[in-house]
Amino acid sequence: MMDTSVRITSTLTLKNPVLSASGTFAYGEEFSKLFDLSILGGILTKGLSLKPKEGNPTPRVCEAPCGLINAIGLENIGVNAFISDKLPFLCTFDTPIIVNFFGTREEEYELMAGRLNIEGVSAVEMNVSCPNVSKGGLEFGKDPGILRNLVAQVRKATEKPLIVKLTPLVSDIGEMALAAQDGGADAVTCSNTIPAMAIDEKTWRPVLGNATGGLSGPAIKPIALRNVWEVAKRVRIPIIASGGAGSWQDVIQFLLAGASAVEIGSASLRDPLCFRSIIEGIESYMYDHNLMSVYELIGKLKTP
Ligand SMILES: Cc1cc2nc3c(=O)[nH]c(=O)nc-3n(C[C@H](O)[C@H](O)[C@H](O)COP(=O)(O)O)c2cc1C
Repeated sequence: MMDTSVRITSTLTLKNPVLSASGTFAYGEEFSKLFDLSILGGILTKGLSLKPKEGNPTPRVCEAPCGLINAIGLENIGVNAFISDKLPFLCTFDTPIIVNFFGTREEEYELMAGRLNIEGVSAVEMNVSCPNVSKGGLEFGKDPGILRNLVAQVRKATEKPLIVKLTPLVSDIGEMALAAQDGGADAVTCSNTIPAMAIDEKTWRPVLGNATGGLSGPAIKPIALRNVWEVAKRVRIPIIASGGAGSWQDVIQFLLAGASAVEIGSASLRDPLCFRSIIEGIESYMYDHNLMSVYELIGKLKTP
């Protein structure tokens, strides 16, 4: 019997390695009208903060060659509205709910983790890598000492599996992953968007209201792939890949590089039903290659 499940921690097993990504799936409601969310390995929610957040001026998203640039600015409804209005609906699906969150100060990260330490939340993903906000996020994710301490503080505030989402904007992402592991993270997500910009030559203005944003989609896949591979050499905790995955072939490649699961973000904005074809594609690939378990792929890249 073929087994597509992956274990992230003793309390978090995914039925397959395909997850939605944070910020491209909102709180699941729109996608639930298109397909049964229970087929997913897990759902990542939009990043939450203690208070509701308005986000950046519009336009917030534009197309780029082989990708898109977004500067949403972490707009969200706030953790309390999420718990009362969105979580009960998400819990009706037979799949883990992984809640992405961020803070502008160390204490806010701790408070958020504590607030989310409730039934219905399967795990939390801590964002220390958003390039589109002036405060919070990225400044915690660029220094290994600061990151280790922050993760250690958050670790004390929650019993949930703790996933740390890393930025690709560092010279040694393996060192950051190691810092997250030392701080007590159960897994790392590798990696977030890359700062980018688009300019309109007709108006002489930046296309985005925020001027700059984060590049995602196929353009960043080779970077994310290399980051997963570098991190896999350094840490023993599971790696969740993020960056440009949009097909079953992409997922297989990320697994070979060392990821245990893969988030699908921008690709699902273009084709919201891609999750289904990706999951089916992985099953067919495993069948064709006589693979009984996803573990026969994870980290099995053949290198000289
Ligand atoms: C519109 C949009 C909003 C996003 N919002 C968040 C967010 O709230 N928190 C977060 O950690 N990442 C956020 N991301 C980053 C994605 O989760 C993902 O890491 C990134 O887009 C790379 O993956 P992809 O190429 O599959 O989209 C956002 C990305 C996009 C495109």
